Amino acid sequence: MAETPDSRVRDPVFDKNGEDSDGSSSANSNNTPNSEISQSDSPISKNAGSRFPVDARAKSRRLAATLTLEEQVSLLVAADFWRSKAIPEKGIPAFKTSDGPNGARGAIFKAGTKAALFPCGISLAATWNTKLLHDVGQHLADETRARSADVLLAPTVCLHRGPLGGRNFESFSEDPYLTGKLAASYIKGLQGKGIAATIKHFVGNEQETHRMKIDSIIGERPLRELYLKPFEIAIRDSNPWAVMTSYNLINGVHADMHNQTLQKILRGEWGYDGLVMSDWGGVNSIVESIVEGCDIEMPTSPNWRGEKARQAVLDGRLSKEAVEKAVANILYLVERTKGSDMSAELPEREDDRPETRKLIRDLGAEGLTLLKNEGNVLPIKPAQKKIAVIGPNANRAIAGGGGSASLNPYYNTLPLDSIKAVPGREVTYSVGCHTYKWLPLAAEYCTTASGEAGVSLEFYIGDKFEGSPKVIQHRTNTDLFLWDSVPLEATSVWSCHCKTQITPRTSGRHTISFSSVGPGRLYVNGKLMMDLWDWTEQGEAMFDGSKDFLFDVDMKAGVPVELVAKINNEVRPASRQKTVNLTHQNGGCRIGYKEEDKQDYLQEAVDAAKAADVAVVIVGLDEEWESEGYDRQTMDLPKDGSQDRLVEAVLSANPKTIVVNQSGSPVTMPWADRVPAIIQGWYQGQEAGNALADVLFGIKNPSGKLPTTFPKRLQDNPTYHNWPGENMKVVYGEGLYIGYRHYERMAIAPLFAFGHGLSYTTFTYGKPSISSTVLSSSGKVTVTIPVMNSGSVIGAETVQAYIHDEKSRLPRPEKELQAFDKVRLVPGETKDAVLVLDKFSVGYYDTDLKAWIAEVGVFEVLVGASSADIRAKTSFEVKESFTWIF
Ligand code: BGC
Repeated sequence: MAETPDSRVRDPVFDKNGEDSDGSSSANSNNTPNSEISQSDSPISKNAGSRFPVDARAKSRRLAATLTLEEQVSLLVAADFWRSKAIPEKGIPAFKTSDGPNGARGAIFKAGTKAALFPCGISLAATWNTKLLHDVGQHLADETRARSADVLLAPTVCLHRGPLGGRNFESFSEDPYLTGKLAASYIKGLQGKGIAATIKHFVGNEQETHRMKIDSIIGERPLRELYLKPFEIAIRDSNPWAVMTSYNLINGVHADMHNQTLQKILRGEWGYDGLVMSDWGGVNSIVESIVEGCDIEMPTSPNWRGEKARQAVLDGRLSKEAVEKAVANILYLVERTKGSDMSAELPEREDDRPETRKLIRDLGAEGLTLLKNEGNVLPIKPAQKKIAVIGPNANRAIAGGGGSASLNPYYNTLPLDSIKAVPGREVTYSVGCHTYKWLPLAAEYCTTASGEAGVSLEFYIGDKFEGSPKVIQHRTNTDLFLWDSVPLEATSVWSCHCKTQITPRTSGRHTISFSSVGPGRLYVNGKLMMDLWDWTEQGEAMFDGSKDFLFDVDMKAGVPVELVAKINNEVRPASRQKTVNLTHQNGGCRIGYKEEDKQDYLQEAVDAAKAADVAVVIVGLDEEWESEGYDRQTMDLPKDGSQDRLVEAVLSANPKTIVVNQSGSPVTMPWADRVPAIIQGWYQGQEAGNALADVLFGIKNPSGKLPTTFPKRLQDNPTYHNWPGENMKVVYGEGLYIGYRHYERMAIAPLFAFGHGLSYTTFTYGKPSISSTVLSSSGKVTVTIPVMNSGSVIGAETVQAYIHDEKSRLPRPEKELQAFDKVRLVPGETKDAVLVLDKFSVGYYDTDLKAWIAEVGVFEVLVGASSADIRAKTSFEVKESFTWIF
């Protein structure tokens, strides 16, 4: 009997965003070395180097066949939150996975082992530099190994379908070719050092709203030509060892059990022989998911596999062959990453290397995108001594987006500090306005009774705080996400006192916020101030948490206030217990704190701008506004116009105003026409501040180009009528036309076009030459174009080649990116940009033929500095139509 997703009780695993979660899995805190969490004793192990015998595939198949059915089904589900199961008696070690795309976080979600924080996906993509992406992969391999992991859960290659996608920052681009090529380089770098890449999320996961239940309705051409394309390119070019399925459904069927995408396309047409793993909690059936090829369920869960899968085999609902195939794929990954190294896993460690720091800083300048620079306001000139640094993001670490891509960085560099570090300048600072989505975390004001910075967590067995605490843990953060780090048995029922004291810096009526995952009560100086024991209103974030509730308390500067949060891990809202079939699950809470505002921030900023030679306004979003788990509600800068008012006010006070916008996706810039200089600052990881200062002062020349179109208004974007869907369905109604494909077809001028990005120098394009005017099915056509640095400083230019199909049977976008080359030039120097095209550059998917086709006719090659700035044209011909599958 087929199990449809709707006919079953959902898997009690987790949806970390909390909005439509039906359950959760147990967490397993295995090891927290070097983290901000105090240590619990745990066994851990030595990581193996990579070994990859030639006959590894055959060996894995043979080994799979020798296992008992019990052993086989035991391998089909993870052992804990991050690891596969080991069968030591059969010489099978476990592999350990780690998030994620811009750093290897290790086994603790929040405040774990410190790690290198790279620029986020879209910032990496803005470099358009495949060589650098390869370097990123190599450095990430070392970082992954330092976390004692073997498999990195990256890269993320879902496309930017619309500007509001919560995880757009984490993925590369709106364009499948750019995404695929960058992913392939990253994967080659990573796997070249023996760490498995896990390309994700396969497929159709372009939004976070209802991500576990949303049905992405996608036509076959957009599915093939856009959303599957980055996976196809990466598999062809770099063969990632693992693929992660997405949470959503695709045209009515969940991704983990989707015959067309997993069996027919991935395994069949593309001949993929690696491992397919589920997203965390993304398995939706016992039988179909295994049959269709989702080999391993992550993380551990009692619901779908193990004994249930064994029973399905015994009942004849599931074939032994299907089980064995999945096991062979799992063993193949084990073989590729660990061989038969059974030595114990080593503790996670830090590995903060100067060469990684340098790479991250270089990636910064290569990705910073100069959107506008009227009158060469940038770089800031030596004579401009007085600099007013203004804005809510100027004195904060805006280093990454939120969710599984986040980690605990080795360090942060703040724009203000890095600007101040440039010699010979007088720097003033004003915040200008607030933008927080939730009250800022209380952590920096918190100390425990023993005087340590942070919070003490006293864990009791059972949910009633009885007896004496079983474990006392110390944390520095008041974002007390506990799913993967409760120092008790994974399935425990527990209760916990979270104790700390806040020492105010000023006297006033200050605000405290509290939200809780399970039942929670917050006491201030012994008095119950917030009772969320039976909360029913779910918040947006907080991984299944309640809404954030605020209250005010009168406090005196320097006089500590005692806070105790009493929480346990009973499921809330209580009504959810039936759906998840569990009474206890995760727990945790978040404590925020903010002191009363007594200044006029806007006026301060205006005064500072007036007194300065130049004003640098650093605005944008942050990891609370842009995160896994939810989408943005608006393209406007938060909050309620405060940042736009700030920019306008500063601009009126000082015409030499430079705006830096830090975000992982487009924002509305109602002031863009009037501000002379705008830098798109992305989230640039641990070197964000230094990289920005390098560019502001012309120490480095920025060379980023937009990997995504910045529209003028949200209403202009292609998904406007179909976002985020209704009744759990989202129709990809714009079909083939996302990003620049849409803006061009509709003749809607964007604010900044795809591929756009300026430099402190200028580039002159020469006349293109073409190696052949005919493209055959196995041939290549190379377009070469000389590019001269016609300005006065060293710079790099990304030359882009778009294909325009003059005539085709089925409609096609006006132009599609099919090649790019980045050339670095000293002033006066000329170099050739080389753009190589082949059959994949001209093909589209014909749904009647069920194949890719290169149609007879002429193809124009549009060579440009952006999708909207075409500098030269040439063309070639396909003499006779031909088709192919992969
Ligand atoms: C995310 C994945 C991530 C996994 C493990 C999921 O919620 O969608 O991208 O790798 O969690 O943290």
